[in-house]
Amino acid sequence: MPIADRMVPRVAAFAVIKNMFEEGRRLKAEFGPYNVYDFSLGNPDVPPPDQFRKALRELVASPALNHGYAPVTGHLPVREAVARRFRSEQGIEIPPDLVLMTVGASGALNDILRALVNPGEELLTPAPYFLGYENYAFLADAGLVAVPTDARFHLDVAAMAAAFTPKTRVVLINSPNNPSGAVYSEAELKALGNALQDASIRFGKRIYLVSDEPYRLITYGAVVPSVFAAYPHSIVVNSYSKELSLAGERIGYLAVHPRADDAGQILAAAAAVNSMLVVNAPSLFQQAAVKAEGAGVDVSLYRRRRDLICDVLKSAGYDFTLPEGAFYLFPKSPMADDVRFTEILKTERILVSPGRAFGTPGYFRISYAVPEETIRGSVKGFQRAFQKARG
Ligand SMILES: Cc1ncc(COP(=O)(O)O)c(C=O)c1O
Repeated sequence: MPIADRMVPRVAAFAVIKNMFEEGRRLKAEFGPYNVYDFSLGNPDVPPPDQFRKALRELVASPALNHGYAPVTGHLPVREAVARRFRSEQGIEIPPDLVLMTVGASGALNDILRALVNPGEELLTPAPYFLGYENYAFLADAGLVAVPTDARFHLDVAAMAAAFTPKTRVVLINSPNNPSGAVYSEAELKALGNALQDASIRFGKRIYLVSDEPYRLITYGAVVPSVFAAYPHSIVVNSYSKELSLAGERIGYLAVHPRADDAGQILAAAAAVNSMLVVNAPSLFQQAAVKAEGAGVDVSLYRRRRDLICDVLKSAGYDFTLPEGAFYLFPKSPMADDVRFTEILKTERILVSPGRAFGTPGYFRISYAVPEETIRGSVKGFQRAFQKARG
C-alpha cells in the first residue's frame, strides 16, 4: 500500500463525497444545469457586501498593500478589529493577543484541537454535527464522541454530561448549526457551562468548550448568545466564509477567553500549530477584513429561500424543524434508510446529503444557498420522491 494505513479509510470517505460531486456534474451535463436541483453544497452564493468589494478594490490599488509574510498570529489591525467586534457584540474585552487569524474556521479548529488534545483524548460534540469534525478529530488524534440532541436539535445537556469521561478534553458545539439550523439558547449554554465546570472538578482536569460560529450573523430573528458569558474556559472560532460570502478566500480566526485556564499558553500553542501548517492566514484578506468591519451579507435573501423550501417540503408532507439560523434544513427521511432516500431524490435530479454523513441517520440535509429558481424547480421532484419512499 503506497499510502499510510490510517489514511486508507479517510481517502475512501473523501471518495464518497467526490463521487457525489461528479455525479452532480454528470447530471448537469446530461440534463442542463437548470434541470438539476443541487442542494448538496454549503457554498454561499449571495454576493459579498458592497462595502467589502469596494474596500478590497481600494486595498488592491493602494501602495500600502502588504504582500510580505504576516505575523503568525495575524496583522495587529485585524486582531484589534476582531476584539472590537467581541466588545460591541458580546460585551467582552478580548485582548488582541488572544486572537489568532487562521485559514478559515477549518484552520482555526485544526489549530485549537491540536493545541489542546493529547492522543487518545476525546472530543465530544452534539449530533447532528458538521462532517468536517470527523476529519479534524482524526488529524488531532482525538476520539470523536457524538451525543444526540433533542427532538428540535437543541442540546441535551444531561446526555452530554453523562457522556463526559476522564478522557474528555474538548466539547465542540456549533450554533447556528450545520446541518440542523438550531441556535442554542442562553439557558442551554449556561447549563452546558455548569456541567463542564462540574466535570472538570470531578475529573481534576480542565475541559474546554470550543464554539464554532461561522453562521453567527445568519439568523432569522434568534439572537446567538455568547458562550464566553456561559463558561470562561471557552474558545470561539469564526470565519468570513459565510457572513461575507468569502468561503474560497480561507480567512477566519479564533479567540480565547482571557479568564480561560492557561489562556496565553493555549493561544501560543494554537499559533505554533498555525505556523507549522500554513505560516500565516491569507494576508490580503486579513487586510481587507479590517475594512469590512460591521458588514454582513443580506440575510433577507436566505430567509426568503428558507421560507420557500419549507413551504415546498411542508406541502409535500415532509417532517422537519424550522431552522433558526444558517442556511440548511434537516428533514426526516420519509423512509428509514436515508442513503436510499437520497438515491430516490437523485432519480428526480435532486441532490442532497444523507443524514448519516452528519452522524444522524434517518434524516437528510438540504442546503438552501441556491437560487430561488432551483427551489421552485424542485417542487414536483420532492413530492414524487416522498410518494415513492412511502411506497
Ligand atoms: C459548521 C462549520 N464549521 C466550519 C466550517 C468551515 O468553514 P471555513 O470555510 O471557514 O473553513 C463550515 C463550512 O461549511 C461549517 O459549516
